Amino acid sequence: MSKNGISRRDYLKLIGASAGAVALAPHLNALAQSAVDKPPQESAAVIADRERRMKWWHEAKFGMFIHWGLYSVLGRHEWAMEMEGIPATEYEKLAKQFNPRPNAARDWARLARRAGQKYMVMTTKHHEGFCNFDTKTTNYCAPKQGPGRDLVREYVDAARAEGLRVGFYYSLMDWHHPDGARCATDEAARKRFVEYIHTHIRELMTNYGKVDVLWYDVSWPLDAKGWESERMNKMVFELQPDIIVNNRNKLAGDFSTPEQRIEAAEAGRAWESCMTMNDSWGYQRADDAWKTPKQIVRNLITCAHGGGNYLLNIGPKADGSIPAESVQILNAVGQWMDKNGRSVYITDICQPNRSRNGSFTRRGNTLYFHVHFWPGGDNLAFAGLRTKVKQASLLATGQRVEFEQDDYHVRFKGLPVKAPDSPVTTLVVECESEPKQEELFVRRRERGQVNVS
Ligand code: GLC
Repeated sequence: MSKNGISRRDYLKLIGASAGAVALAPHLNALAQSAVDKPPQESAAVIADRERRMKWWHEAKFGMFIHWGLYSVLGRHEWAMEMEGIPATEYEKLAKQFNPRPNAARDWARLARRAGQKYMVMTTKHHEGFCNFDTKTTNYCAPKQGPGRDLVREYVDAARAEGLRVGFYYSLMDWHHPDGARCATDEAARKRFVEYIHTHIRELMTNYGKVDVLWYDVSWPLDAKGWESERMNKMVFELQPDIIVNNRNKLAGDFSTPEQRIEAAEAGRAWESCMTMNDSWGYQRADDAWKTPKQIVRNLITCAHGGGNYLLNIGPKADGSIPAESVQILNAVGQWMDKNGRSVYITDICQPNRSRNGSFTRRGNTLYFHVHFWPGGDNLAFAGLRTKVKQASLLATGQRVEFEQDDYHVRFKGLPVKAPDSPVTTLVVECESEPKQEELFVRRRERGQVNVS
């Protein structure tokens, strides 16, 4: 991604572990901070409209990301073209070999629904420049190449058939288009290229009915001015008044997009962590670094805890089939979500976060204690809850759980030795008011620094 006009490679070189990096750091920090334009002061009407558009998304919490394109034929990660230095004229040949079976997206959508995911976001064009959708702008698109049909259309129909919301990923960076790099230094090329990109966005926003999410990606080598991003978003909202857009066209958009990490945005700002299930977005046949269902469930809980969403990726093979490991993982997550969805969907930002056994989510006055390491018996407790507990139960079975609460802790009693649910067991802890945990309470109280009522 460009950091204000310098190339990705130069940027990485500059921030690298060279001696010069220290001296350059303040300057680069300034560059990095201004990389996304500061959102202008927003009116109450603009804020209210965003709330309206984003309501379903905040409630949904869990989505499926899909990376699919010519790179799926190679099976060596979606950056293969760039990383292996494959010239565009060579790479293009893959377009004829891309021959997915009809309606493969139906299996993705079914799997997403089973996994408890409420929306999908599919690559309509990745950095390689190949358009999975029908476009007037180029022959380098699915209907005019190997697939012989519009893959985005199939995807949209499949998602809708399963009752899922529809998102479009779209990469601004384009390694195939002749103006894709020279637009940075040649104004005529920039104009042509921006027209090309805006036309794609217009086609995507016009030809597929209601689109719920527009997910821009890598804006190298231009800035918001160069991309004419304000004009781009204006067109998007004119064509799709209910849509939400992310922040990767160098404008703040509606939500932030931490990648491969979970990090809440500043207060009041929506965010979504996108993550792979192994280490690759596009299909990579040799990548065996799969996360366990437990890691996925824990990540989802962490996102919900901080008021964020979790967008979890699959990288289908060229024929459209989903790697078996991804199917297994998502099925296991789905089984957990069947019983535990209530502790994830429509949850609120949750303040309590301190336990070595588990993690927390919250809906109103109900605290969900997700136990990752099940101790059984009378050994499960957490410290510092400052809100009175009314009742506790196991979410998976509804069974009541005895507990004792004093100024120091809540301790749950007589729990089964074997964890009642897998991979994580959730306790429903109903509180009198919004649950709050005070981290230092126990130690301060011991030293007589707090008056306990
Ligand atoms: C990065 C990568 C890209 C991937 C995306 C997902 O920007 O360049 O391959 O699609 O992250 O967030």
